[in-house]
Amino acid sequence: MFDLLIRNARTADGDAVDIGCVDGRIVALAANLQAEAGREIDAGACLVTPPFVDSHFHMDATLSFGQPRINASGTLLEGIQIWSELKPDLTVAAIKERALECCKWAIARGTLAIRSHVDICDPRLLAVDALLEVREEIAPYIDLQLVAFPQDGYLRTADVDQQLKRALDKGVDVVGGIPHFERTMADGAKSVRALMEIAAARGLMVDMHCDETDDPLSRHIETLSAECHRLRLHGRVAGSHLTSMHSMDNYYVSKLLPLMRDSGVAAIANPLINITLQGRHDTYPKRRGLTRIREIIEMGIPLALGHDCVMDPWYSFGSYDMLEVAHMAVHAAQMTSMAEIRKMFDAVTVDAAKILNLQDYGLHVGARADLVILQAQSPFDAIRLRPNRLFVIRRGQVIAETPRTQAHLNLDGTRHSVDFTLKNQG
Ligand code: FE2
Repeated sequence: MFDLLIRNARTADGDAVDIGCVDGRIVALAANLQAEAGREIDAGACLVTPPFVDSHFHMDATLSFGQPRINASGTLLEGIQIWSELKPDLTVAAIKERALECCKWAIARGTLAIRSHVDICDPRLLAVDALLEVREEIAPYIDLQLVAFPQDGYLRTADVDQQLKRALDKGVDVVGGIPHFERTMADGAKSVRALMEIAAARGLMVDMHCDETDDPLSRHIETLSAECHRLRLHGRVAGSHLTSMHSMDNYYVSKLLPLMRDSGVAAIANPLINITLQGRHDTYPKRRGLTRIREIIEMGIPLALGHDCVMDPWYSFGSYDMLEVAHMAVHAAQMTSMAEIRKMFDAVTVDAAKILNLQDYGLHVGARADLVILQAQSPFDAIRLRPNRLFVIRRGQVIAETPRTQAHLNLDGTRHSVDFTLKNQG
């Protein structure tokens, strides 16, 4: 007897499966399961996947678009300035309200694990307190990891080191950084070393904003990788953004990528944001502002994609849909072969889960019964259509549903006929 039985679903690899769940876990996964169940869902041959994972987000700033003004230049630096203007007026209640609303958007689109950076440069640590409460309140629905993020620089102000440690003492999970925003290249490298040592001493993971610039000489990922190797933090460190790699000399990159691979550093790219933020000092040709996604994957370095922002000082758009992120990565990084498109789907699901070290994640017996059924038949169609998330399931319980679209596309991947049987024609 299952609590939940999903019939007639299709995996990302194209296998037809039924999925039986008991006590919040997957206990059976096979074709044509014969058993009673408390609830049955007919997936109608649609795609079932473990939930989407956002490996890079800023939940303290989300949905603050226009407060106190809109980013006119479209640059990272003006975004940081606007955020600093808003900070004095922040309250725990306001941050929580925006964050919880954003979590609802995420759940509706099947994102049930999020790594969010939280700014620790405000001495009051209001954002930390707010997001720690959000982490607890949203835990039945979303696994939320928090990163102690020195948005205004770790070495620019004397007190930030203590504030970062206070945030970690309060229960923030991961050590962050922003070496390209320190005053000098030397300070950037110094900040990486200091922050990595804090993580090593406390047994924590690291996720640094790293080289989010078009400057090819911004090479803090090299220091991050070397420190990861020195401190034996293999598999626990990620470099986020890494956009300077786009502009680096090819010979230098031919040495850098093996260093990253051998050090066990992961890469997290944020295509929605960096396609808009980067290249702002270029005329033409204008750089794309993404890291070298294809080359990173080919080197065997783990890679995930993050949403980064939804309606905040850096990015005005977004509905918190990880398939939009994958769609932009396919286009901006030209990941257009079938294998590459599949890899971009994995970068917002299974590969992101590995980088975040999520436990019991996946579509296998013994995993937590966290699943999404989409109105699509394959990862290719999921990215192409960004379709309805028909059922979002957490620990074996349906927590969000979206009805099938009536006038639907024919989703066999080759034809594009539309069913014009529309309702309400009078
Ligand atoms: Fe970010």
